[in-house]
Amino acid sequence: MATAEAQGPVYDERVIRQFTIMTVVWGIVGMLVGVILASQLAWPQLNFDIPYLSYGRLRPLHTNAVIFAFGGCALMGTSFHVVQRTCRTSLFAPGLASFVFWGWQLVIVAAAITLPLGLTTTKEYAELEWPIDLLIAVVWVCYAVVFFGTIMKRQTRHIYVANWFYGAFIVTIAVLHIVNNLEIPVSAWKSYSIYSGTIDAMVQWWYGHNAVGFFLTAGFLGMMYYYVPKQAERPVYSYRLSVVHFWALISVYMWAGPHHLHYTSLPDWVQSVGMVFSLILLAPSWGGMINGIMTLSGAWEKLRDDPIIRFMVVALSFYGMSTFEGPMMSIKTVNALSHFTDWTIGHVHSGALGWVAMMTIGSMYYLIPRLWGMTRMYSVRLINTHFWLATIGVIFYVVNMWIAGVMQGLMWRAVNEDGTLTNTFVQSLEATWPFYVGRLLGGLAFLVGMLVMAFNTYKTIQQGEAPAGNPELAMARG
Ligand code: HEM
Ligand code: HEM
Repeated sequence: MATAEAQGPVYDERVIRQFTIMTVVWGIVGMLVGVILASQLAWPQLNFDIPYLSYGRLRPLHTNAVIFAFGGCALMGTSFHVVQRTCRTSLFAPGLASFVFWGWQLVIVAAAITLPLGLTTTKEYAELEWPIDLLIAVVWVCYAVVFFGTIMKRQTRHIYVANWFYGAFIVTIAVLHIVNNLEIPVSAWKSYSIYSGTIDAMVQWWYGHNAVGFFLTAGFLGMMYYYVPKQAERPVYSYRLSVVHFWALISVYMWAGPHHLHYTSLPDWVQSVGMVFSLILLAPSWGGMINGIMTLSGAWEKLRDDPIIRFMVVALSFYGMSTFEGPMMSIKTVNALSHFTDWTIGHVHSGALGWVAMMTIGSMYYLIPRLWGMTRMYSVRLINTHFWLATIGVIFYVVNMWIAGVMQGLMWRAVNEDGTLTNTFVQSLEATWPFYVGRLLGGLAFLVGMLVMAFNTYKTIQQGEAPAGNPELAMARG
């Protein structure tokens, strides 16, 4: 221990290891539920007439599991890793960090029990009932205390940009969660929102869009700004751009939520404000993407040999693609075609699988061996296999949804000369069916890739633990 301290700060890695393992576990669980949903959309009888397995109950289970369990564990674990390394200090209040881990797992288990039971507030991405909401608020505040406490006790003058992104994610999610979940409990498991009508919709989509902006974007940009330069062994392409990127992104995201409520009773001017801010959002988003990809300049050959870098570059490419597509879909006339169709689902998963999951996977492959005292994963070949399964899977998923979505939009709006609809809704469903099967195959490939990752992780941990023996050794590794 004394030698370790002489070499540099002793980092708390136990909690990071716990979050890392659970990222892989919840990733598999959440995506498995996604695959079940995709199967049910093709073959509805697969709910076996069991209420707990019905589509309406499993869907929020999927979104909560992939966003808050898989994404949440990845963000909490990596933020604890990044903040310690870049501040050259150990975690503030490690006991509290451990509470954050166990508290978050409790939230996830509570969600996994209550959602299939049909207990829900009905607000998308905020379905959990009030007792769980309170637990989330407590755990989140503790998370903020550990993260910002560590920044306060840093041994460096500068606060590295990745921490700015993680910090914005932590603060904003706290505000969003509390404001959107203000509700009046009427029993142990039932509450009503304090908002009603159009106000409720506006608050909900201010929350929903910023959950995308700060949970699924800012947090993962924090991850990107640390792990891409590390894996590429290059400094960030432009540090100045990263700072401009940060301020531009967080100030513009806040105003774009109304693009989820086009052609509703929301005042027209508010819809237009949302559209304009969504279009402006293209600029900071692409600034970040370019900064990430150009970090590789001078090291492009790594793309050929290093599957981890490939995960990261594909993630950034999907980030660029979904943040081009999003602003296009926020244009009212385009939204008139895309809304309610599978185009939206394609957009969601090009962001969620292409960007969020690929960046997480790449960062985990960097992190896992180092956490268990190894220099690389058990099998680089298996990382490569995973890369191809994931890439082909996500492309298959989104291309099928794009085609299905545009086709649905066109079929629904087609009218005959006498003003009657050309197609019935059932005809559009029949036409969609092959694409649902195609999406299922893409999702399956992605899930199989995650199982390959679990095996590779298990073998790495098995190999890593043996020589390290002494857990303190692993803690001291810089
Ligand atoms: C194997 C991987 C996955 C499969 C097969 C899958 C499948 C699905 C399916 C079938 C739906 C319902 C679509 C509908 O109602 O029409 C859905 C919705 C959703 N999924 Fe996934 N998913 C996967 C991974 C992910 C991941 C990793 C994330 C996030 C990080 C994610 C986020 C979402 C979201 C946010 C929705 C709701 C979209 C909306 O309401 O517009 N999914 N997914
Ligand atoms: C510049 C950035 C982006 C803009 C302007 C944008 C815009 C949009 C628009 C217009 C919709 C359709 C709303 C509707 O018709 O109901 C949408 C849906 C969605 N987007 Fe994006 N998007 C962006 C980036 C992303 C990214 C990077 C992700 C994921 C990581 C993402 C996740 C989602 C989700 C989950 C939905 C579905 C929400 C729901 O209805 O449940 N978006 N986005």
